[in-house]
Amino acid sequence: MSESLLIHHIGCLVSAPAAATPLSGNQQGQIETHEDVWILIEDGHIQRIGSMHEPLPRTQHTYHAQGGMVLPAFVDSHTHLVFAASREGEFVDRIRGLSYQEIAQRGGGIINSAKKLRQTDEQQLFEQALERIYQLIHLGTGALEIKSGYGLNAEAELKMLRVIRRLKEAVPIPIKATFLGAHALPPEYVNQRKAYLRLIEKEMLPRIAEQGLADYMDVFCEQVAFTASETDRLLDAAARYGLKAKIHTNQFHSMGGIEVAVKHQARSVDHLEVVAPHEIELLAQHRTTIATLLPSAPFFLNDPYPPARRLIDAGVPLALASDYNPGSSPSGNMWLVWALACIKMRMLPQEALVAATLNGAHAIDLDTSLGSLQPGKRAHLIITRPAPHLAYFPYAFGQNHVQAVYVGNKWFKTH
Ligand code: NIG
Ligand code: FE
Repeated sequence: MSESLLIHHIGCLVSAPAAATPLSGNQQGQIETHEDVWILIEDGHIQRIGSMHEPLPRTQHTYHAQGGMVLPAFVDSHTHLVFAASREGEFVDRIRGLSYQEIAQRGGGIINSAKKLRQTDEQQLFEQALERIYQLIHLGTGALEIKSGYGLNAEAELKMLRVIRRLKEAVPIPIKATFLGAHALPPEYVNQRKAYLRLIEKEMLPRIAEQGLADYMDVFCEQVAFTASETDRLLDAAARYGLKAKIHTNQFHSMGGIEVAVKHQARSVDHLEVVAPHEIELLAQHRTTIATLLPSAPFFLNDPYPPARRLIDAGVPLALASDYNPGSSPSGNMWLVWALACIKMRMLPQEALVAATLNGAHAIDLDTSLGSLQPGKRAHLIITRPAPHLAYFPYAFGQNHVQAVYVGNKWFKTH
């Protein structure tokens, strides 16, 4: 029998429209608002949005929203949330004056995480990540992408991807898996770059593809990681195995990653703290590649923020994600990401909401079912505490705005 639910006394329902392509330019902040409404949900899908002035449909379950707002759940399209241990020691080293890159060069950073991940068994990794995901769901995250990249050998990369596959089956929200074997050069391959690239191409990729363990391939294109031509070669190999491209690029340097992304029609280019005018122009010409900005990383690392306004003005579609990882963003809180996008990157609250929901869904190919609230889409939504305006949420940063979260036919309430 079908399950029906009516959420009523909604002060205002706010959502991006159901757009078949990511929103950009002066449509980046396009939203639909419905005041004083109810929403009818059947079997986890939105049936209808109706006015509180018309008769309420009779349903098996009801929820009184107390005048709170309803928003689409966040789609966090870039995380590294499978990891073995936190890295607060490096955090203190940076407070004392070392840079993220200096820490990486000393064998800290990603290599430090890889060492610990290799020693941790699959079950423990799974349990830790599961706990992190449930915390995020309570904060309003309704879909996730998770990357490998802390294994850096075939055995440990596959282990991470198997953990992500188990997570996909265990949680009530969709998860996309990304293979990031090219996250850093592992210590045992220093001075043997070509051999590591070969290992990715000839051993890891075929096994991952055969077992269907990844939806995307990502490469960290950066001075401390891989060059643009190495990125190009790896994405060529990924395409042969049917994996779509994503690139971590322009975090600290501009070194050709955006050209490679455009060439491979990457689903997204992520970071962009350092981006040149000609690169913005290139992205503007190829709107199939979304620019995914991760403001909690430059916040945490004390780096410059991506030029969100210039990207929007050029017509580049923007997504926002948390980059949840132990080194550069030990938080998956999308409310904080929203606030930082507005406060530090001058995105309007509506532009940032679209970036964190619909455009995020486009960045991981979930846009037909998630990212906005219209009949036919899955009912993954946040009920907020009553607030005077949408802008209140990024404005009153650091506060808990969640009344309840409904995802995957389930309620998540903290009080
Ligand atoms: O997206 N930039 C590369 N990778 C991660 C950080 C990984 C780490 O420090 O563990 C990021 O910021
Ligand atoms: Fe990242």
